[in-house]
Amino acid sequence: MFLRNCWYAAYWSKDLGRGPEARTILNEPVVFFRKEDGTPVALADRCCHRAAPLSRGECVGDELRCGYHGLRYDDSGAVVEVPGQPRVPPGARVRCYPVREKWKTIWIWMGDPEKVDESAIPELFWLDDPGWVSSPGRFHVKGNYQLLSDNLLDLTHVIYLHKNTIGGDPAEATWPTETERIENGVRVGRWMIDFKTPPLFARVGGFDGNCDRWQHVTWLAPSNIYLDIGAAPTGTGAPEGDRSQGFSIWSTHLLTPETETTTHYHWGYARDFRLDDEELTKTLFEGSRDTFYEDVEMIDAQQERLGATVLDGLIDINADYAQLQARRMLEERIRAEAAANA
Ligand code: FES
Ligand SMILES: [Fe+2]
Repeated sequence: MFLRNCWYAAYWSKDLGRGPEARTILNEPVVFFRKEDGTPVALADRCCHRAAPLSRGECVGDELRCGYHGLRYDDSGAVVEVPGQPRVPPGARVRCYPVREKWKTIWIWMGDPEKVDESAIPELFWLDDPGWVSSPGRFHVKGNYQLLSDNLLDLTHVIYLHKNTIGGDPAEATWPTETERIENGVRVGRWMIDFKTPPLFARVGGFDGNCDRWQHVTWLAPSNIYLDIGAAPTGTGAPEGDRSQGFSIWSTHLLTPETETTTHYHWGYARDFRLDDEELTKTLFEGSRDTFYEDVEMIDAQQERLGATVLDGLIDINADYAQLQARRMLEERIRAEAAANA
């Protein structure tokens, strides 16, 4: 079961051209295309004539023509032309999904169109603010989306799984975190004082002595997450609010279930310093990609062993606290939505 009355990231804006393109979301085949003015459209990817995928068709002006027998659909999913006959049969239409383009991201609403809530698109201003540089990427993950949420809310794996990228100091594994419930989400974070500077941070920050590090993760239901991660040389005042000697990287992780056991993982980092430094952009892009890919490989393997989408029969440890809060909150939302629809 998935939460439906909410926004999922379908694409980074840069990744959807004119289309049409197929993408399965919450087990539903969806076709995406852009109208001539660039407005994105999402329709059910199944022709109402003989079920051909509309993604095998072509865009004609602001409309989509099925690639099999040529039925033409407008942007609301209604058939407006049937080749060879003057009349369109009644009920000739496919489902149209509400979509919005915001923060250089295309969002899709998989639930009741009557309940669309613009304000529920998460605030991710750093993705299109001219004062920031961001570099989006995407992975296809062979794992349930909640395994990825768990991973991002867990700060203890960094030292083990990411020892070659952002992990560095064994004390990280046991350093305490604080978790709080916020409106529509969960936040977990910590400050780590006088720690060994990890290799990637040393390259980015240009310092190699010990550092004060911060990690703050915000999870928003159903599965949109951002991290404020950074470091400054120890003793330069970062914990007290002066980050000027250090750097902070905001990473964004938009997790969209494709099926119960596969996920579209949109990730990206953003920074508000040395904006024109292309070498740094490359270092950060490659560093982030390599780091997140370490997670993806583990989650693919984890899903294979798990076999299911629930954690039945497994033990919990203290480090799971934030993840369990998020899972509980999402479960409550899904249950409430199902009850309202019953
Ligand atoms: S299947 Fe689409 S027009 Fe026939
Ligand atoms: Fe990780």
